[in-house]
Amino acid sequence: MTVRIAIVFASSGGNTLETARMAAVGAGEAGAVTALYSARDFSADVLTEHDGILIGEPTWGQGDHHADFRPFDESMAQLLVPGQRLRGKGAAAFAGCDRAYPNFGRALELIEQRLVECGADILQRGLMIELRHNPASREFTRRWGHDFVARLRGELEREANEPRMGRADVDRVMGISSAERESRELGGLR
Ligand SMILES: Cc1cc2nc3c(=O)[nH]c(=O)nc-3n(C[C@H](O)[C@H](O)[C@H](O)COP(=O)(O)O)c2cc1C
Repeated sequence: MTVRIAIVFASSGGNTLETARMAAVGAGEAGAVTALYSARDFSADVLTEHDGILIGEPTWGQGDHHADFRPFDESMAQLLVPGQRLRGKGAAAFAGCDRAYPNFGRALELIEQRLVECGADILQRGLMIELRHNPASREFTRRWGHDFVARLRGELEREANEPRMGRADVDRVMGISSAERESRELGGLR
């Protein structure tokens, strides 16, 4: 069975765009047909035409939606919450983050809450990418996209999305060891 995946993203500096692209590579490797949509000027209606949905944005402001994502979120609220029009669809979220800010990666939670309100089923743990990608995070993201499709097909067990990723989980995604983290902190680096 061919599964169709919509990947919606917002991104200012390109980090979250890269997450969307790598997730698309992984989903494609798992045999899905993927469509990448910029959240800007895009109506959430299109999501109803896909089997699986991945949505991501950088956490912004004080742990808020990115401005480019907000109209899309509002269109989800208006068009998809009434009647829970994403019922029966699998979904997962991804977010950009930076531990220098107090609400670390909170966009993930905002996106997941909206997806649930729309009736979607969160099939796997949301992915947080801190600042710029590196080879470890690219590989993790590719695998994340791949496994999402496997879960959608029922070939892999679903994964709880809570507790959401914390700083140590994000370090693992980014391939940063605890020793490296310690020396970064001593050096005042993130
Ligand atoms: C103005 C601004 C506000 C931000 N606010 C937060 C925040 O509240 N929490 C967080 O974890 N990251 C925050 N970030 C970090 C971004 O999410 C992070 O830099 C991300 O990689 C940007 O993704 P992009 O390259 O796709 O735009 C903020 C970044 C900027 C520039």
